[in-house]
Amino acid sequence: MLREYHSDPRYLEHYFEAPDTDSIVSCAIHWARECPRENYQLVVELKVSRKIIGCIGLRQKGCATGAAEIGVELSPDYWGVGYASEAVRELMHFASSSLAITTLLAATSPSNTRAGNLLKSCGFVQKGTRMNQCLFQARVNAA
Ligand SMILES: CC(C)(COP(=O)(O)OP(=O)(O)OC[C@H]1O[C@@H](n2cnc3c(N)ncnc32)[C@H](O)[C@@H]1OP(=O)(O)O)[C@@H](O)C(=O)NCCC(=O)NCCS
Repeated sequence: MLREYHSDPRYLEHYFEAPDTDSIVSCAIHWARECPRENYQLVVELKVSRKIIGCIGLRQKGCATGAAEIGVELSPDYWGVGYASEAVRELMHFASSSLAITTLLAATSPSNTRAGNLLKSCGFVQKGTRMNQCLFQARVNAA
């Protein structure tokens, strides 16, 4: 499924090139074996059918203590129904309650209004730019 939508023109609209699906999967496996675990790359699946429709990641490596960067992507066939915001909110809850994260960061292309809207709807605010990308930040309450 990931490989399928990684070449979908709707997905690629805001990317210069298709992502390397194999390296995303390898990274997910590598991160799952880390001890202590700092980084997560998880699939997003439909609750009833368990069909995989995308993935979501959280990376603490390279971030200040208490901070992490997140990224999410879904197959375009599942955009526009709130699944991405549901996944981001779940990840935010996990980050604050299980990892003691207090600051979440995310970066998107300035033209990617769908991603910007998603982040804003989850409580992120734009905090500037980084390498031609809009940088968003959200504060979360550590448990
Ligand atoms: C960014 C991305 C995940 C956003 O997906 P999305 O489906 O638009 O995001 P959401 O889950 O917030 O859905 C919002 C839409 O669902 C609608 N919606 C319906 N029911 C909803 C509900 N219960 N809750 C929230 N939104 C709901 C909203 O009205 C909105 O519709 P609109 O697009 O017509 O305005 C997707 O575009 C994507 O995978 N892009 C490629 C990768 C990418 O750019 N990632 C960003 C890196 S941070």
